[in-house]
Amino acid sequence: MNHARALRAAVTIAVTGVLAAGMAMTLSTAASAGTTLGASAAEKGRYFGAAVATGKLSDNTYVTVLNREFNSVVAENEMKWDATEPQQGRFSYTGGDRLVSHARANGMSVRGHTLLWHGQQPGWAQGMSGSALRSAAINHVTQVATHFRGQIYAWDVVNEAFADGGGGGRRDSNLQRTGNDWIEAAFRAARAADPGAKLCYNDYNTDGINAKSTGVYNMVRDFTSRGVPIDCVGFQSHLGTTIPGDYQANLQRFADLGVDVQITELDVMTGGNQANIYGTVTRACLAVSRCTGITVWGVRDCDSWRGSDNALLFDCGGNKKAAYTSVLNALNAGGTTPSPTTPPPGPGGCSASVSLNSWTGGFVATVTVTAGSSGTNGWTVSMTLPGGASVTNTWSATASGSTGAVRFTNVDYNGRLGAGQVTEFGFQGNGSGAGLTPTCSAS
Ligand code: XIL
Repeated sequence: MNHARALRAAVTIAVTGVLAAGMAMTLSTAASAGTTLGASAAEKGRYFGAAVATGKLSDNTYVTVLNREFNSVVAENEMKWDATEPQQGRFSYTGGDRLVSHARANGMSVRGHTLLWHGQQPGWAQGMSGSALRSAAINHVTQVATHFRGQIYAWDVVNEAFADGGGGGRRDSNLQRTGNDWIEAAFRAARAADPGAKLCYNDYNTDGINAKSTGVYNMVRDFTSRGVPIDCVGFQSHLGTTIPGDYQANLQRFADLGVDVQITELDVMTGGNQANIYGTVTRACLAVSRCTGITVWGVRDCDSWRGSDNALLFDCGGNKKAAYTSVLNALNAGGTTPSPTTPPPGPGGCSASVSLNSWTGGFVATVTVTAGSSGTNGWTVSMTLPGGASVTNTWSATASGSTGAVRFTNVDYNGRLGAGQVTEFGFQGNGSGAGLTPTCSAS
């Protein structure tokens, strides 16, 4: 992030200097011409990601292209319900954790996909209904979002809950049959479990203004008006040989509701229009200030779920296709693209949790600080001590105040944390520390 910020600052300075010299066009273009998808998107304040099958992380060609071109990843399958909770209450995070650590090691942000969906449910959930399914589903959201807390830039909390066809209503599913409020219940549970992650609704065939996207639009408007936590809408954009003419206008109408938008699963059928369509999608995202990034659904054509559609940006040998050049040129074009309101990758922020060792009349609190997916330069943890309690001694942080609302700020050696990195500080107190609820803010 710091590097990206410094780079952006340098670009701004360069452009300013150039404007003064009256040669804006030539040099401003040169100043912003990245040579990879990730770097070029970052220059526009956005991320460019790929869906990853963790089994392919041992394929050299695959990893070379992934690490060189992309600065965001999403698990193609490994964070879905059947993968993460194969038996009820027994969670399995091997694939998801592997992807998160690959991302962390390579400075990539992570999209989480997906907490609840009618597809790829474990067998035990497929057979459930009613209140038993509702509580199992909410427990799933809570457990998985808690496990990955602080690691995920944006979660697809709910995937594909609207029906195709003209009605603009919900799709029938076991989840829908638990009550229409299942989606908002899922969003509330996700927010409680990982307050730092952006929470998205994600769907397909919503890529233009149509009955289905309008159904989603009405739900988002309702959620924002009632304070149901929703931060973003994902547009899968599994496209054929055409793209709706109102693709950008559709993104914009959602952005105008006050949520971010993201292109989450882009792939385009091969054919004469493929490169153009990829370019059009990229330009549309850059033209919408709240479009924070684009993810393609796989790396090479042969990695794609779309069989022989050759729908991606690299051929099976890992070579760049015309569609790749079209995307890169679109990312590098122009100097007037507005930046997203929240600079990705990463939610920034941090989270904190406390563990207590208490005795009669006193306690020691050990506080764990976890950086969000863009890391921290510094952090402050706030908490309110119960009446009668006071801080007597603090280590690895500086306390301001000793009773009531107390703030703990990093010391010079533990303020800078990489994405997902953890540090600890502690304090001793008189009285009782029961019920301490820390909140963390990052700078
Ligand atoms: C697909 C994966 O790519 C396949 O590997 C898997 O067999 C089925 O799911 N919409 C979604 C994605 O939200 O999760 C789907 O991914 C593609 C359609």
